[in-house]
Amino acid sequence: MKFFLDTASLVEIKKWQDYGLVQGATTNPTLLSKENNAPIDQLIKIASIIDGPVSAQVTYNTPEKMIIQGKALSRLSDNIVVKVPATKEGFLAARQFVRENINCNITLNFDPVQAIPFCLLPTSYVSLILGREEDFGLRNLNRVQQLREILNELKSSTKLLAASIRNPHHLIAAILGKADVITVPPSTWENIFQNPQTLIGEKDFFDAWKTLPESLREKYENLK
Ligand code: E4P
Repeated sequence: MKFFLDTASLVEIKKWQDYGLVQGATTNPTLLSKENNAPIDQLIKIASIIDGPVSAQVTYNTPEKMIIQGKALSRLSDNIVVKVPATKEGFLAARQFVRENINCNITLNFDPVQAIPFCLLPTSYVSLILGREEDFGLRNLNRVQQLREILNELKSSTKLLAASIRNPHHLIAAILGKADVITVPPSTWENIFQNPQTLIGEKDFFDAWKTLPESLREKYENLK
Protein backbone atom coordinates (compact mmCIF):
# COMPACT_ATOMS: atom_id res chain seq x y z
CA MET A 1 0.00 0.00 0.00
CA LYS A 2 1.40 3.38 -1.03
CA PHE A 3 0.61 6.87 0.14
CA PHE A 4 0.52 9.72 -2.36
CA LEU A 5 0.02 13.38 -1.53
CA ASP A 6 -3.05 15.01 -3.09
CA THR A 7 -1.59 18.41 -3.85
CA ALA A 8 0.14 20.62 -6.40
CA SER A 9 2.05 22.56 -3.73
CA LEU A 10 5.84 22.20 -3.69
CA VAL A 11 5.92 23.51 -0.13
CA GLU A 12 3.51 20.82 1.05
CA ILE A 13 5.33 18.10 -0.89
CA LYS A 14 8.67 19.01 0.70
CA LYS A 15 7.08 19.29 4.14
CA TRP A 16 5.40 15.86 4.00
CA GLN A 17 8.37 14.18 2.33
CA ASP A 18 10.10 14.71 5.67
CA TYR A 19 7.42 12.52 7.25
CA GLY A 20 7.81 9.77 4.62
CA LEU A 21 4.28 10.30 3.32
CA VAL A 22 4.99 11.16 -0.31
CA GLN A 23 5.44 8.08 -2.49
CA GLY A 24 3.73 9.89 -5.35
CA ALA A 25 1.37 12.80 -5.96
CA THR A 26 -1.99 13.46 -7.55
CA THR A 27 -2.80 16.84 -9.01
CA ASN A 28 -5.94 18.12 -10.68
CA PRO A 29 -6.95 21.43 -12.31
CA THR A 30 -8.35 22.77 -9.02
CA LEU A 31 -5.14 22.06 -7.15
CA LEU A 32 -2.97 23.54 -9.92
CA SER A 33 -5.18 26.65 -10.05
CA LYS A 34 -4.21 27.40 -6.43
CA GLU A 35 -0.50 27.64 -7.25
CA ASN A 36 0.87 30.92 -8.49
CA ASN A 37 2.73 29.35 -11.39
CA ALA A 38 2.16 28.13 -14.92
CA PRO A 39 0.70 24.60 -14.46
CA ILE A 40 3.21 22.99 -16.84
CA ASP A 41 6.17 24.50 -14.97
CA GLN A 42 4.64 23.48 -11.67
CA LEU A 43 4.14 19.88 -12.84
CA ILE A 44 7.70 19.61 -14.11
CA LYS A 45 8.98 20.78 -10.73
CA ILE A 46 6.68 18.39 -8.85
CA ALA A 47 7.76 15.48 -11.02
CA SER A 48 11.42 16.35 -10.46
CA ILE A 49 11.25 16.23 -6.66
CA ILE A 50 9.07 13.14 -6.28
CA ASP A 51 10.45 9.65 -6.63
CA GLY A 52 7.13 8.14 -7.72
CA PRO A 53 4.13 8.67 -9.98
CA VAL A 54 2.64 12.14 -10.43
CA SER A 55 -0.87 12.39 -11.87
CA ALA A 56 -1.57 15.24 -14.29
CA GLN A 57 -5.14 15.67 -15.45
CA VAL A 58 -6.39 16.48 -18.95
CA THR A 59 -8.41 19.68 -19.30
CA TYR A 60 -10.49 18.73 -22.33
CA ASN A 61 -13.58 16.57 -22.68
CA THR A 62 -13.24 15.19 -26.22
CA PRO A 63 -11.17 12.04 -26.82
CA GLU A 64 -9.12 13.65 -29.58
CA LYS A 65 -8.01 16.58 -27.44
CA MET A 66 -7.51 14.43 -24.34
CA ILE A 67 -5.23 12.14 -26.35
CA ILE A 68 -3.09 14.96 -27.75
CA GLN A 69 -2.83 16.70 -24.37
CA GLY A 70 -2.32 13.48 -22.43
CA LYS A 71 0.53 12.34 -24.68
CA ALA A 72 2.21 15.74 -24.30
CA LEU A 73 1.79 15.61 -20.50
CA SER A 74 3.31 12.13 -20.40
CA ARG A 75 6.38 13.41 -22.23
CA LEU A 76 7.06 16.02 -19.52
CA SER A 77 8.64 13.42 -17.26
CA ASP A 78 8.89 9.61 -17.01
CA ASN A 79 6.86 9.60 -13.81
CA ILE A 80 3.84 11.50 -15.14
CA VAL A 81 0.57 9.55 -15.12
CA VAL A 82 -2.18 11.02 -17.28
CA LYS A 83 -5.40 11.52 -15.39
CA VAL A 84 -8.65 11.12 -17.32
CA PRO A 85 -12.28 11.29 -16.16
CA ALA A 86 -14.42 8.13 -16.09
CA THR A 87 -16.58 9.19 -19.04
CA LYS A 88 -17.15 7.57 -22.44
CA GLU A 89 -14.79 10.11 -23.98
CA GLY A 90 -12.28 9.39 -21.21
CA PHE A 91 -12.55 5.68 -22.03
CA LEU A 92 -11.59 6.26 -25.68
CA ALA A 93 -8.63 8.37 -24.60
CA ALA A 94 -7.58 5.85 -21.94
CA ARG A 95 -7.77 3.00 -24.49
CA GLN A 96 -5.34 4.88 -26.70
CA PHE A 97 -2.99 5.58 -23.78
CA VAL A 98 -2.98 1.89 -22.86
CA ARG A 99 -2.22 0.96 -26.50
CA GLU A 100 0.77 3.31 -26.38
CA ASN A 101 1.94 2.16 -22.93
CA ILE A 102 1.18 5.53 -21.36
CA ASN A 103 0.28 5.23 -17.69
CA CYS A 104 -3.14 6.62 -16.90
CA ASN A 105 -5.29 7.15 -13.84
CA ILE A 106 -9.08 7.23 -14.24
CA THR A 107 -10.60 9.77 -11.90
CA LEU A 108 -14.11 10.71 -10.77
CA ASN A 109 -15.26 7.14 -10.15
CA PHE A 110 -17.96 7.33 -7.49
CA ASP A 111 -19.63 3.95 -8.01
CA PRO A 112 -17.26 0.97 -8.29
CA VAL A 113 -19.07 -0.21 -11.44
CA GLN A 114 -17.85 2.89 -13.28
CA ALA A 115 -14.31 1.57 -13.01
CA ILE A 116 -15.04 -1.81 -14.65
CA PRO A 117 -14.43 -0.87 -18.34
CA PHE A 118 -11.16 0.77 -17.36
CA CYS A 119 -10.01 -2.21 -15.28
CA LEU A 120 -10.56 -4.40 -18.33
CA LEU A 121 -8.28 -2.28 -20.55
CA PRO A 122 -6.44 -2.31 -18.07
CA THR A 123 -5.39 1.21 -17.06
CA SER A 124 -2.64 1.68 -14.46
CA TYR A 125 -4.97 3.18 -11.82
CA VAL A 126 -8.63 3.83 -11.12
CA SER A 127 -9.35 6.53 -8.55
CA LEU A 128 -12.35 5.99 -6.31
CA ILE A 129 -13.53 9.30 -4.89
CA LEU A 130 -14.64 8.97 -1.28
CA GLY A 131 -15.01 12.38 0.39
CA ARG A 132 -16.71 14.33 -2.34
CA GLU A 133 -19.86 12.19 -2.13
CA GLU A 134 -20.44 13.29 1.43
CA ASP A 135 -20.91 16.83 0.16
CA PHE A 136 -24.21 15.49 -1.17
CA GLY A 137 -25.12 13.61 2.01
CA LEU A 138 -24.15 10.20 0.62
CA ARG A 139 -21.93 7.84 2.53
CA ASN A 140 -20.86 4.35 1.58
CA LEU A 141 -17.28 3.71 2.51
CA ASN A 142 -17.70 -0.03 1.67
CA ARG A 143 -17.16 1.00 -1.92
CA VAL A 144 -13.40 0.56 -1.54
CA GLN A 145 -13.83 -3.06 -0.54
CA GLN A 146 -16.37 -3.60 -3.33
CA LEU A 147 -13.99 -2.26 -5.95
CA ARG A 148 -11.18 -4.37 -4.47
CA GLU A 149 -13.33 -7.47 -4.91
CA ILE A 150 -14.31 -6.45 -8.44
CA LEU A 151 -10.65 -6.02 -9.39
CA ASN A 152 -9.84 -9.42 -7.91
CA GLU A 153 -12.73 -11.11 -9.75
CA LEU A 154 -11.66 -9.51 -13.02
CA LYS A 155 -8.04 -10.47 -12.34
CA SER A 156 -7.20 -6.93 -13.36
CA SER A 157 -3.74 -5.44 -12.88
CA THR A 158 -5.27 -1.96 -12.40
CA LYS A 159 -4.34 -0.41 -9.07
CA LEU A 160 -7.10 0.85 -6.80
CA LEU A 161 -6.36 4.43 -5.78
CA ALA A 162 -8.57 5.82 -3.02
CA ALA A 163 -8.95 9.60 -3.34
CA SER A 164 -10.72 12.59 -1.81
CA ILE A 165 -9.61 11.55 1.66
CA ARG A 166 -11.01 14.42 3.67
CA ASN A 167 -10.89 12.94 7.14
CA PRO A 168 -9.49 10.01 9.16
CA HIS A 169 -12.62 7.89 8.49
CA HIS A 170 -11.94 7.99 4.77
CA LEU A 171 -8.33 7.02 5.38
CA ILE A 172 -9.31 4.06 7.56
CA ALA A 173 -11.92 2.92 5.01
CA ALA A 174 -9.30 3.08 2.25
CA ILE A 175 -6.80 1.03 4.26
CA LEU A 176 -9.32 -1.59 5.44
CA GLY A 177 -10.78 -1.75 1.93
CA LYS A 178 -7.27 -2.70 0.74
CA ALA A 179 -6.64 0.14 -1.67
CA ASP A 180 -3.28 -0.15 -3.45
CA VAL A 181 -2.70 3.58 -3.18
CA ILE A 182 -4.25 6.26 -1.00
CA THR A 183 -3.84 9.88 -1.98
CA VAL A 184 -4.17 12.10 1.05
CA PRO A 185 -4.42 15.91 1.04
CA PRO A 186 -1.97 17.77 3.31
CA SER A 187 -4.91 19.13 5.36
CA THR A 188 -5.96 15.60 6.34
CA TRP A 189 -2.46 14.68 7.56
CA GLU A 190 -2.39 18.01 9.42
CA ASN A 191 -5.67 17.16 11.18
CA ILE A 192 -4.49 13.66 12.04
CA PHE A 193 -1.40 15.08 13.73
CA GLN A 194 -3.52 17.67 15.57
CA ASN A 195 -5.92 15.32 17.37
CA PRO A 196 -7.25 17.56 20.20
CA GLN A 197 -7.12 14.71 22.74
CA THR A 198 -3.43 14.22 21.97
CA LEU A 199 -2.71 17.93 22.40
CA ILE A 200 -4.72 18.10 25.65
CA GLY A 201 -2.99 14.96 26.94
CA GLU A 202 0.43 16.39 26.08
CA LYS A 203 -0.43 19.58 28.00
CA ASP A 204 -1.70 17.55 31.00
CA PHE A 205 1.63 15.73 31.19
CA PHE A 206 3.62 18.97 30.90
CA ASP A 207 1.52 20.62 33.61
CA ALA A 208 1.98 17.67 35.98
CA TRP A 209 5.70 17.58 35.29
CA LYS A 210 6.13 21.26 36.12
CA THR A 211 4.70 20.64 39.59
CA LEU A 212 7.97 18.89 40.43
CA PRO A 213 10.63 21.29 41.76
CA GLU A 214 13.20 22.13 39.12
CA SER A 215 15.98 20.69 41.27
CA LEU A 216 14.33 17.26 41.05
CA ARG A 217 13.53 17.49 37.33
CA GLU A 218 16.95 18.76 36.34
CA LYS A 219 18.82 15.45 35.92
CA TYR A 220 15.98 13.94 33.86
CA GLU A 221 15.71 16.99 31.60
CA ASN A 222 19.42 17.27 30.96
CA LEU A 223 20.07 13.65 30.05
CA LYS A 224 22.60 13.46 27.22
C1 E4P B 1 -8.16 12.66 -7.08
O1 E4P B 1 -8.12 12.15 -8.18
C2 E4P B 1 -8.53 14.04 -6.91
O2 E4P B 1 -7.45 14.85 -7.31
C3 E4P B 1 -8.82 14.42 -5.51
O3 E4P B 1 -8.61 13.38 -4.59
C4 E4P B 1 -10.21 14.96 -5.42
O4 E4P B 1 -10.36 15.47 -4.14
P1 E4P B 1 -11.54 16.49 -3.81
O5 E4P B 1 -12.80 15.73 -3.96
O6 E4P B 1 -11.29 16.90 -2.41
O7 E4P B 1 -11.42 17.60 -4.81
